[in-house]
Amino acid sequence: MTEDASAKKELAAVKGTRDILPGEVEKWQALEGLARTTFELYGFRELRAPVFEATELFEKGTGATSDVVTKEMYTFTDKGGRSLTLRPEYTPSVVRAIIEHRLDLEGAPMRYYFMGPMFRYDKPQKGRFRQFHQIDIEVFGEKDAAVDAEIIEMAHALLGKLGVAGAETLVNSVGCRACRPAYSAALREAAAKRKSELCPDCQRKAETNPLRIFDCKVEACREAAASFPSIQDYLCEECREHFRKLRACLDTLGIAYRVEPRLVRGLDYYTKTTFEIVSSHLGAQNALLGGGRYDDMMKDFGGPDICGTGFAMGMERVLSIAEIAPAARKMLYLAYLGEAARMASLELARYFRSNGVECLVEYKDRGMKAHFGRANKLGAAWVLIVGDNELATGRFGLKDMATGRQLEGTREELLALLLES
Ligand code: HAM
Repeated sequence: MTEDASAKKELAAVKGTRDILPGEVEKWQALEGLARTTFELYGFRELRAPVFEATELFEKGTGATSDVVTKEMYTFTDKGGRSLTLRPEYTPSVVRAIIEHRLDLEGAPMRYYFMGPMFRYDKPQKGRFRQFHQIDIEVFGEKDAAVDAEIIEMAHALLGKLGVAGAETLVNSVGCRACRPAYSAALREAAAKRKSELCPDCQRKAETNPLRIFDCKVEACREAAASFPSIQDYLCEECREHFRKLRACLDTLGIAYRVEPRLVRGLDYYTKTTFEIVSSHLGAQNALLGGGRYDDMMKDFGGPDICGTGFAMGMERVLSIAEIAPAARKMLYLAYLGEAARMASLELARYFRSNGVECLVEYKDRGMKAHFGRANKLGAAWVLIVGDNELATGRFGLKDMATGRQLEGTREELLALLLES
């Protein structure tokens, strides 16, 4: 490799991260806009938390036996000797913020959303990045299964606006602290019987948290897990009733779903409802979004005993199959000739922009022909001609690039025309 090539390589974006460039970013902006307006219709407000948090927050929240915490966190020690972690997910941050600001005392609906980057050190592949982006929503203080159904319906509403068709909704209940121990014991027993078939990681999980074996992608572990008992047979009366209600609410809303008893999700905090929306168009990483209820996290953090439920959508994955046509842009290009016209263009551009017209001036000397060539290349909708004559008379020529039509008028007349078009 030449010195130049190796310098370029060193300066490339880090593996598992990527740039979102103009041309693509418009789709991201459209997704963000649609998500925002959808969530606000359901009473959600944005809550922005820091990109890094104390490592302990995720160890306690996401869970010490989850893959995210044991293998995937970007953890570092800062100059003050504190252990910090780039957030691998958003849920624990929201819970921390509620406790820290006592948002529960404000009386407002505790419905929050957020969009931004998350960080996980996993093997990059199609649909899996080390810096990826989530749209996250969380609701607090609503025990009823109806709210779980409502957020699933909200996810469907957003996916519908994004033109995502053919996605499948999977639901399950992972029980609660009352009924899960008996299920874990039964799983441990089943896993012990097939221990030799499990990967070393799952052999460890069989002892620490056998539920996590369901997250393993190794074929032999999946096969073994298929024979394990189903959580549905171990739910306590309360969890059973909650799950029945969830399904009834989804039926009422006309949302098709499949009960998937092995959907335990990779994070330790879930209680009762878990769900995912998956798409067969995505490949191996098929989850567009995942979520569920976590009724114990807030009190486990030392806060009030307030339940939570929510989901996070992977933006890269959704965008890879969404059908979004960003709004067409209409740009006015200023083609000037000579120094006086260049100065005048600076001010003219401010006039059009301050009146809501996207306007571009490039301060490079060009002849008129070159200006038109450039405007064409940029896809400008209009070209305003600014020369000494125009400056003297205060009347400018305007060319509609799509039709070739030439117009003429004062800047006020042309502005009115542009705003109408
Ligand atoms: P999660 O299932 O870990 O849940 O992530 C949610 C979504 O983020 C996934 O369904 C996927 O679309 C996307 N995602 C996860 N990891 C990656 C990655 N490495 N690259 C690209 N996309 C990825 C959570 O994070 C929970 N906090 C969801 C939640 C909110 N539960 C309750 N409230």
